[in-house]
Amino acid sequence: MNNKVIKKEVEEYLSRYFEGKDNYNKRVYESMNYSLNAGGKRVRPLLLLASYAIYNKDYKEVIDIAAAIEMIHTYSLIHDDLPCMDNDDLRRGRPTNHKIFGYSIALLAGDGLLNEAMNIMFKYCIGKGEEALKACLMISKAASSDGMIGGQVVDILSEGKKINEDELRYMHKKKTGELIKAAVVSGAILGGAPLHDVELLSQYGDKLGLAFQIEDDILDIIGDTKIMGKTSKSDLENDKCTYVTLYGIDKCKSICRELTDECLDIIGKIQGNTELLKEITELLLKRNR
Ligand code: IPE
Ligand code: IPE
Ligand code: MG
Ligand code: MG
Ligand code: MG
Repeated sequence: MNNKVIKKEVEEYLSRYFEGKDNYNKRVYESMNYSLNAGGKRVRPLLLLASYAIYNKDYKEVIDIAAAIEMIHTYSLIHDDLPCMDNDDLRRGRPTNHKIFGYSIALLAGDGLLNEAMNIMFKYCIGKGEEALKACLMISKAASSDGMIGGQVVDILSEGKKINEDELRYMHKKKTGELIKAAVVSGAILGGAPLHDVELLSQYGDKLGLAFQIEDDILDIIGDTKIMGKTSKSDLENDKCTYVTLYGIDKCKSICRELTDECLDIIGKIQGNTELLKEITELLLKRNR
């Protein structure tokens, strides 16, 4: 079992998921599939499965939940790229969803992916008991107005402004951190982790999520559009307030390094096979997309 194998399984699951579901609504499934199967890094499902695998080897049991979290994330990207949001033309190496399907279908495809994720999670919970419900509630809360949407609101309202450190931290932790943390913690809960580990992984998820968005801010400046599959300098263009605008590249790089080291320290306190999670943690710091 390694990250590449797990990623491939997630890819296969997602590529088949909407097969045969189309009717007069065919166009929305085309649009959903277009973005969902465009080759993202699959960080959130990988985190969920790696965290689950510390406690339970049979990670395929929760591949539905891993797919659900990727659907929520993909919906957020489709909406994030819309002209009324970040107005981007390139995503996952392809023209953004609205460039191909138009604004209305892109909007509906995002809604469709979010709802499908909820369908998957409710279905999974039938007959499974409290832990499954807790894990799914955590994911749904992470996507809520007090989670990812809350962060996106601050992001949009902060365009062209200089916000303070606290607001910026809130924005990053919410718009990106919450879903990443929920992936890790829900994976652990589903795997049957003891409470002490759930608490440790929650701290880990907090730090990893923040580091992930700071790295994303860095890549916006120094990343290569071709490698990233999204247009660099988009934040500059939109006059966004990011960690880089507040601290500069070098300081941001050292914050990411520190947060990653703290994440690795936390993992070190957990018993069981944490190799996969460790590997992902290190890869995320070194990523170029
Ligand atoms: C991009 O997320 C948006 C953020 C939350 C920073 P990813 O960097 O995980 O994008 P994909 O899924 O690989 O396309
Ligand atoms: C996106 O943040 C966060 C969410 C989609 C929730 P960004 O706007 O920085 O993501 P990219 O850079 O477009 O991928
Ligand atoms: Mg954005
Ligand atoms: Mg964006
Ligand atoms: Mg960005």
